[in-house]
Amino acid sequence: MACEFAALTTHDRPAILRHLLRLGTDDRVLRFGTAAPDEAVVNYCGRWNFARDIVEGAWDEGRIVGVVHLPVYDSHDDLVGELGVSVEAESRQRHIATRLAARTLERARKRGLVRVYIHFLTRNRPMMRLAGRFTTDIALDHDEAQATIRLPAPVPQAGVAAARPAGPAAC
Ligand SMILES: CC(C)(COP(=O)(O)OP(=O)(O)OC[C@H]1O[C@@H](n2cnc3c(N)ncnc32)[C@H](O)[C@@H]1OP(=O)(O)O)[C@@H](O)C(=O)NCCC(=O)NCCS
Repeated sequence: MACEFAALTTHDRPAILRHLLRLGTDDRVLRFGTAAPDEAVVNYCGRWNFARDIVEGAWDEGRIVGVVHLPVYDSHDDLVGELGVSVEAESRQRHIATRLAARTLERARKRGLVRVYIHFLTRNRPMMRLAGRFTTDIALDHDEAQATIRLPAPVPQAGVAAARPAGPAAC
């Protein structure tokens, strides 16, 4: 079934949490950098600032199957963000993460962010491919990778192509 994509708000926090808590141990290592226990995941999600951050979700049959959380912060004089993404195991390889990332980057561009970073483990092949759709600037440091996506300045009446991935991303 096709899923629906939407901006998420603080009201969606319980559904987001259910999604995050369904992630298995290795997925938590990939997403959080550690095999975070449930309590740590609850605390982490409780700190999301929906007024400032960008949060996008994919819904399927009433539950969230994928989430992007992009904390937004100042870096010197620049507004930047750091993208974290997860898609439930049963819904992968349907380009859900790619579409979530594209929507997030477009919102980030409109908000005036100049850069978005993605940190992931070099063994994370889906993330390597996903990041490669949006940037060629991927720095490797042993087990870790950092992708830097530079966003064009928001231009009135500009099209939405800037942050879109190179190819189709049907869910
Ligand atoms: C990483 C993750 C979000 C990808 O979600 P997804 O919805 O399956 O990703 P997509 O379907 O958009 O695929 C992205 C790319 O990875 C490729 N890919 C997906 N699964 C793959 C796999 N197991 N092996 C190799 N490539 C894979 C896809 O083909 C696609 O590449 P393409 O655009 O060239 O076809 C998901 O695997 C996940 O939640 N993992 C655990 C958490 C995590 O790793 N988070 C990242 C930390 S920021």
